[in-house]
Amino acid sequence: MCGIVGYVGKQECTEVLLDALSKLEYRGYDSAGIAVFQDGEIRVSKTKGRIADLKEKILKEGMIHGGSCGIGHTRWATHGEPSDINSHPHGNAEISIVHNGIIENYQKIKSFLEKHGYVFESQTDTETVAKLLNYYYNGDPMETIQKVLGDIEGSYALGIVFKDFPESVYAVRKDSPLIVGVGEGEAFIASDVPAILKFTRNYYLLDTDEIAVLSGGRAQIFDKYGTPVEKELMVADWDMEAAEKGGYEHFMLKEINEQPNAIKQTVSPRIKDGMPDFEECGMTAEKLASYNNIFVVACGTAMHAGLVGKYVIEKLARVPVTVDVASEFRYRDPIIGSNDLVIVVSQSGETADTLEALKLSKRLGADTLAIVNVVGSSIAREADMVIYTHAGPEISVASTKAYSVQISVFYLLAFLLSYARKMISEDECRRLTSVLESVPNMIDMILKQEKSCQYVASQLINSENLLYIGRGLDYALSMEGSLKLKEISYIHSESYAAGELKHGTISLVTESMPLIAVATQRDLFDKTVSNAKEVKARGGKVIFVTHDYINVDDDVADYKIGLPTVDDILMPMLTVVPLQLIAYYTSVLRGNDVDKPRNLAKSVTVE
Ligand code: M6R
Repeated sequence: MCGIVGYVGKQECTEVLLDALSKLEYRGYDSAGIAVFQDGEIRVSKTKGRIADLKEKILKEGMIHGGSCGIGHTRWATHGEPSDINSHPHGNAEISIVHNGIIENYQKIKSFLEKHGYVFESQTDTETVAKLLNYYYNGDPMETIQKVLGDIEGSYALGIVFKDFPESVYAVRKDSPLIVGVGEGEAFIASDVPAILKFTRNYYLLDTDEIAVLSGGRAQIFDKYGTPVEKELMVADWDMEAAEKGGYEHFMLKEINEQPNAIKQTVSPRIKDGMPDFEECGMTAEKLASYNNIFVVACGTAMHAGLVGKYVIEKLARVPVTVDVASEFRYRDPIIGSNDLVIVVSQSGETADTLEALKLSKRLGADTLAIVNVVGSSIAREADMVIYTHAGPEISVASTKAYSVQISVFYLLAFLLSYARKMISEDECRRLTSVLESVPNMIDMILKQEKSCQYVASQLINSENLLYIGRGLDYALSMEGSLKLKEISYIHSESYAAGELKHGTISLVTESMPLIAVATQRDLFDKTVSNAKEVKARGGKVIFVTHDYINVDDDVADYKIGLPTVDDILMPMLTVVPLQLIAYYTSVLRGNDVDKPRNLAKSVTVE
C-alpha cells in the first residue's frame, strides 16, 4: 500500500526522501513522487513506475539539489489507474500533500469544491484533501488542518507542506500508519520504521488526529485542538541489517532462513520455569480458561495461522474456536459477547479489515488479544492485550517467518489453556513446551535440504494449475502452501480437504495438473494415501510431504519430501518450511519478482 515519508533537517532532502522511499518499496506501489522546497518554491516531481524512474526524472528536472525539507510518496492505486497525474504529491504551488488511505466522502467534498470553482485534474480521492486545504487556508497551517479533519471521513496518513512555511512538514493520521522519527537536528515522518532506520532509531507513534509539526530540526506533536502533547519516545529494536538482504538473493529466502531464530525470540520470553506464561500481556491461565468461545480473525497467511490455532486449541483444550476471514467477520453479524475472546492476528498490525474486525469485537463486549509483529501498530494499540511476535521486520510481501511465529504463539496458548482446563497434566504441558523449544533446531535441518524443494519447483514451473490436499492440520498447511505458491509464482493453485477431492475437483486431474499432498498427521495418513492413489491412477503427478521415516510407494507419489518427526500436533511448525521453499524456488525459476509480486501490497491498509 502507499508509503509516506517526510524530512526536515540539514541533509540533502531529495536524497533522504528517495532513500527512505526505497525502504518502503516492499509495501507494493505503482508510482512515486516527491515535493521539496527549492528557492522558496514547492517543486514536485512524480511519475508512474518505480523509484528508479522517479530518480531519473528528478535528475532531468534538476531537483536533486532540493532544499532541506520535503515529502515523498509511493502510490498503490485505489482511486484511478497508475499514471503520472494520479501519482502523489497532489496540490498546487501553495500546498502539496501525500496521502495513504481512502477518503470515503471524497465525492461529496469534490462536489462542494467544484461548486466553489475548483477544477480537478486527477481521479484520486487525495486531490479533494489538497483542494480542501486550499479552501480553508488562512495563513495558519494548524487551523487549516483542524478544519479539514472536521470534514474528511475514512482513513488517512497525510504529509503536508505549505509554501508559506518552507522549513516545515505537517502530518496527521487516522487508521493508516504514520510514525514521527527524530534524529540529531532532523525529523522525519514515515509509514514504517525501516524507512528511517538509516538515520535514526528514535520515533514517536502518532495517535488519531494528532498533528505533527516538523520544523527547525525537531518534531512537535499536538492534539486535534492544537494543544501540545507529550509522547513516549520509542526506540526501534530493529537495526539496518535486519531490514537488508544480508547476502541473500531475496528477502523471502532470508526470512525463511530466519525462522529458527524468530521462533526462539518469540517463544523464550513466554516460558517461565518450563511453563507457558503470558502474564506480561495481562493474560493469566485463569483468564484464558474463563472464555466460553474463542474467535480468531485475520487475513491471508495470518488467517491460516489461526486455522492451526483452532485445530490445536480445540484438540488440546476442548474450547470451541471459530476462525474468520476479517473482511467477512464484520458483515456476518457475529454472535460474540463478554465471555468470549477474540484473537486478531497480523504481521503488520495495520491490515484494515482486521483492525475493523477488532473494533467491532470490542464494541460487542468481547475481550481482544492481538498477536502482532510490528510494535506500536494500530492493531497492537487498539487491542486489550498484545502478544508481540519477535520476528523482526518482514519485508517480502509473501509472509513466511511471521506465520511461524504466529503459530508458535498459538501452541503456547493452547498448552496453557489445556493445562488450565485440566485436559493435560503439568508434566505434559512442560513436555509439549520443551518440544516446541526444540523445533528451531529441526527447522535448521530442513533448511539444509533445500535441494529437494528446488527439484520439486523445477517440476512445477511449466504448470498452469496445481492442487494441494491435506486432512486436519495438514489441510490448514495445504492452504498456506497453496497461497504462498500462487501469490509469487502466478500458477493457479487451490487447496482442498483431501476427502473433498472426489466431490467434484478430481475431474480436473490430468497429467498436467500436479498435486501436492501434505500427510504428516499419522492417524489420517492412510486416508490421504488413498486420495493420492486416486489421483495417480488418473495420470496426475503427486508430490508427497510426510515424515522422513515413512516410505511412500510409487503408486502413491512421484516424489517425497521427508520431514523430521515431532508430535503430530506440532508438525505444522516443520511442514510449512518446504511449502515455503517450493513456492520460493518456483517463483525464482519462473523469473518473477519474488519479493514484490505483481498487484500485491505488503500492508493492506484499505478495505
Ligand atoms: O499484515 P497482516 O499479517 O495482517 O497481513 C495479512 C495478509 O495480507 C498477508 O498475510 C498476505 O496474505 C500475505 N501476502 C501472504 O503471504
